[in-house]
Amino acid sequence: MANERIRSEALLSKVTTAEAAAKFINDGDTVATSGFTPSGYPKAVPLALAERAKNGEKIEITLITGASVGPELDGALTDAGVIKRRFPYQTNSNMRNAINNGEVKYADMHLSHVSQYMDYGFFGDIDIAIVEAIAINADGGIIPSTSVGVSPQAVKNAKKVIVEINTSQSMHLEGVHDIYMTQQPPFREPIPITKSGDRIGTTYIPCDPAKIVAIVETDITDKVRPLGAIDEDSRKISQHIIKFLENEVEAGRLPENLLPLQSGVGSVANAVLGGLVDSNFTNLTCYTEVIQDSMFDLIDAGKVTVASGTSFTPSEEGLKRLNENMAHYAKYCVLRPMEISNNPEVARRLGVISINTAIEIDIYGHVNSTNIMGSRMMNGLGGSGDYTRNAYISIFTTVSNAKNGDISSIVPMASHVDHTEHDVQVVVTEQGLADLRGLSPRERARAIIENCAHPDYKEMLTDYLDRAEQTKFKHESHLMDEALSWHARFLATGSMKK
Ligand code: COA
Repeated sequence: MANERIRSEALLSKVTTAEAAAKFINDGDTVATSGFTPSGYPKAVPLALAERAKNGEKIEITLITGASVGPELDGALTDAGVIKRRFPYQTNSNMRNAINNGEVKYADMHLSHVSQYMDYGFFGDIDIAIVEAIAINADGGIIPSTSVGVSPQAVKNAKKVIVEINTSQSMHLEGVHDIYMTQQPPFREPIPITKSGDRIGTTYIPCDPAKIVAIVETDITDKVRPLGAIDEDSRKISQHIIKFLENEVEAGRLPENLLPLQSGVGSVANAVLGGLVDSNFTNLTCYTEVIQDSMFDLIDAGKVTVASGTSFTPSEEGLKRLNENMAHYAKYCVLRPMEISNNPEVARRLGVISINTAIEIDIYGHVNSTNIMGSRMMNGLGGSGDYTRNAYISIFTTVSNAKNGDISSIVPMASHVDHTEHDVQVVVTEQGLADLRGLSPRERARAIIENCAHPDYKEMLTDYLDRAEQTKFKHESHLMDEALSWHARFLATGSMKK
């Protein structure tokens, strides 16, 4: 009998086991799945696929997701040697190791580009989509769970669709999603979002039921990632940003309730947003990618009226809180496809204030968000570039040093660049804030060293800049033989200090 999760008899006939569903995946397939920072990703079918490979079957796939996914997908399939190519973002330690030791070919992409890569066929054919859902409508419409990510385009472009109905996901998620897809140029129209909370689409992903080859029921929960405790450094970073925003309001450059906030992934980003709970700001709105724990604090404190994103990205405690109060938080939240949550057109129109985290920042304002020491992939740049480039004000945060002080996060030259000096307007560490707007490169360098560098490294950085400025070229002066010597010294001796 049709029920609240599978809403037609015809669809019920497609219910099968994870093992049977996994058989629809062939060696050489490109598989696109739901899942974003790791929420709402398929679990049962990937585990069954991993079993096939572990039992000796040769099966190698390209995996495309919204963003990071949990151990049942990236972890299990990497362990079984199934994933050969991976797009566009990951955080799983097995996957990270496989990328860094060359077993998996990974391309780190702006998340807003992934949907159109699929639509244009830049990834080749999408053989199969696997999407986690809370329910399927009688007409095949798929109601996603805790994230949307790239699922609408995966379903649209895939030849076959497998749906995982996850009964551990709350039915109160129905109505949270707003699914809207753009056309391809030259038929693409403006995206009609003028306020963070605007709803412009459907609450389900349209899907031709004939494409659905299998429906699998599971109750495996999202394996979300822990968030670090809000420490003193994060608190200070948050306070510097709040003071900066207060000054902007006073100067008439921002309205009293600011402009829509975007805040990145990770512990520092969560802490920065959390700091707003104790601020005087009210009626805040968010147009962001991930809705982390601190957003729930802001909603409960009556500070945020609407949070638009593409996924709930809670910690384990946050997930419990979300599940117990989904009906409440659903009233404030909209989950969109990542093509829309991260859309440059919308970010520019709304005037988003972007706040993202860097691994290192150089004295001229170039930001490395991804590659430790220039070559070890951490996660990926995710949506940080989508927002940064198009923000009204773009802010980058980092703690001024790392690894017990052996690394300075402010360096002469970034060992890898994700965000250039042209896109980065404000740099913040626990030491202070450098407002780079309107400054020349050498003025920016003085401001960053003075306000943001750790005292242990300030003198070394100033010495570098002083000597670089003595060279022939006075615009963005560098000592090329020395520029990356800090990283080389760390790799050789374990410390950037001399
Ligand atoms: N040099 C070397 N390593 C550094 C470093 C530096 N300058 N700064 C930080 N690290 C290391 C930390 O020691 C830590 O290492 P560990 O995993 O071995 O403990 C790791 O990088 C992560 O640092 P942490 O302080 O825990 O940061 P975080 O949880 O706040 O994450 C990023 C920081 C940059 C990794 C994370 O924000 C990210 O992946 N950003 C890119 C994607 C993005 O911005 N998405 C948002 C768009 S909405």
